[in-house]
Amino acid sequence: IDTRGFQQDLLGWYHNNKRDLPWRKDGDPYKIWVSEIMLQQTRVDTVIPYFNHFMRLFPTIKDLAEADEETVLKAWEGLGYYSRARNLHTAVNEVQEHYGGVIPADPVSIRKLKGIGPYTAGAISSIAFHYPEPAVDGNVMRVLARIFTICDDIAKNGARKRFEAIVREIIAENEAADFNQALMELGAMICTPRDPDCHSCPVAEHCYAREEGVQAYLPVKAKK
Ligand code: ADE
Repeated sequence: IDTRGFQQDLLGWYHNNKRDLPWRKDGDPYKIWVSEIMLQQTRVDTVIPYFNHFMRLFPTIKDLAEADEETVLKAWEGLGYYSRARNLHTAVNEVQEHYGGVIPADPVSIRKLKGIGPYTAGAISSIAFHYPEPAVDGNVMRVLARIFTICDDIAKNGARKRFEAIVREIIAENEAADFNQALMELGAMICTPRDPDCHSCPVAEHCYAREEGVQAYLPVKAKK
């Protein structure tokens, strides 16, 4: 792959086509964190009103840390997977106690906070703090499986690591936040699970699945 050409095509497209999402407005790491937790099991369109409501109730990390768990769960009502809200509440209190209320920037420290796995640690450190870290979720695995015709079963434990290694090779070091979000955006808008819109794809010329006509068969996802 022509890495520089791929980066330019992907980032140029993202610049012109990115959605105007509320957590993309000011780069506040707290907002990026909350958005990533909400987006783990919930679609963007559903998350937006909950996110806005949550930020009105708890505008800063301090407001959230000091709130009662009951109030936090009430604000989460309807989003489901309530352990996300309980873990987030625990984790913001960890940040208050151990980091003086300032969210740590490096992925290793972020990863240690309650409820934060490798994807979320990578997303926060890259999107909020511009570390050149991978943020590989199911959507990003789908995009990369097609671009590189990777036939690994993405449902398998350990599959993500291979995709993370690829991202480390191709990530735009100085534009990690946009690079990772561009991969997510591509997965949401163009490189969809069914009927990917290859004719509109900014990186179609870099895509091996497209070249071989196998985009409908990737990624491989065996039934568990
Ligand atoms: N899904 C998870 N994180 C996202 C983000 N930052 N932007 C769009 N979709 C996402």
